[in-house]
Amino acid sequence: MARTADRARIALATYRPEEGETSADRDLPVLRAALEEAGAEAAVVHWDDSAVDWAAFDLVVIRSTWDYSRRLAEFVAWVERCAKVTRLANPADVVRWNSDKRYVGDLAAAGVPVVPTRYLAPGDPVELPGDTEFVVKPTAGAGARYAARYLPGERETAVRQLARMHAEGLTAMVQPYLKGVDVRGERALQFYGGRLLHASRKGAVLEPGTPFDGDKVPHPRLEVWEPSAAELAVAGRALAAVPGGPDALLYARVDLVDGDDGEPRVMELELIEPNLFLWLHPGSVPAVVEAVLRAAL
Ligand SMILES: Nc1ncnc2c1ncn2[C@@H]1O[C@H](COP(=O)(O)OP(=O)(O)OP(=O)(O)O)[C@@H](O)[C@H]1O
Ligand SMILES: [Mg+2]
Repeated sequence: MARTADRARIALATYRPEEGETSADRDLPVLRAALEEAGAEAAVVHWDDSAVDWAAFDLVVIRSTWDYSRRLAEFVAWVERCAKVTRLANPADVVRWNSDKRYVGDLAAAGVPVVPTRYLAPGDPVELPGDTEFVVKPTAGAGARYAARYLPGERETAVRQLARMHAEGLTAMVQPYLKGVDVRGERALQFYGGRLLHASRKGAVLEPGTPFDGDKVPHPRLEVWEPSAAELAVAGRALAAVPGGPDALLYARVDLVDGDDGEPRVMELELIEPNLFLWLHPGSVPAVVEAVLRAAL
């Protein structure tokens, strides 16, 4: 791998914004500038750019490949290709595992407290809760696309959503709607370089009656959060259950909501392209830079 003197060459892999639009990744320019400031060569690169020579980088950090869930096969193929010629963070097997939310079932099987989840693949008989409010969402998704909550009496609309998802080949997840999120919000614990970087809290995303194909605000009322001991413990257990173990990870975000018992449960483990929210946590920039440079060595 090419490296001029001690200048680490780092690629920050991102999505290609629409013609005339700028990137929605607010972390990207901050991170690039901070890496350059620290003496590295940092390039912002579109993951689907076939002209890029990935082998020319010491490290490729997947930063904001936010169109990946709609182009999953293509994305996973790129991840595997890229990981063959250079160091990729997170590693290819972690990305592959994390790109399908059936990993929530793997976490549950490993004894990690998670939001109780059933999976409905195309062709599966449609069974929906008859006595509790529930959520239907896809196993491959982002930005709450195709996510909605339903009262037991709204079954017909839920069935319509499932039919639409299944027609697109998507597998659905059915979960109880955890009301704790309305009061205590959802907490995102962000890890980088093996340490807690910072935590944030956001409000509930699924307003009652929001149509499944409607736009949602993905991070309402985001604020700095001081994680509790219980949250740190559950996050630690989730990271310990990642294939290859937590040491294989450069970064991780663990999203937690409270169950009806008030205890935190994993809603999502984001190991591919997490928002870092550095605009909310500017003091975290040096720790990210240090961890990236260490991983590039
Ligand atoms: N079981 C649930 N109970 C309560 N709220 C839920 C549940 N599942 C999802 N939500 C709400 O919907 C939002 C999106 O769900 P989730 O994080 O699982 O999907 P996503 O599309 O991967 O979102 P993103 O990538 O934007 O975080 C959550 O942040 C939460 O507010
Ligand atoms: Mg989420």
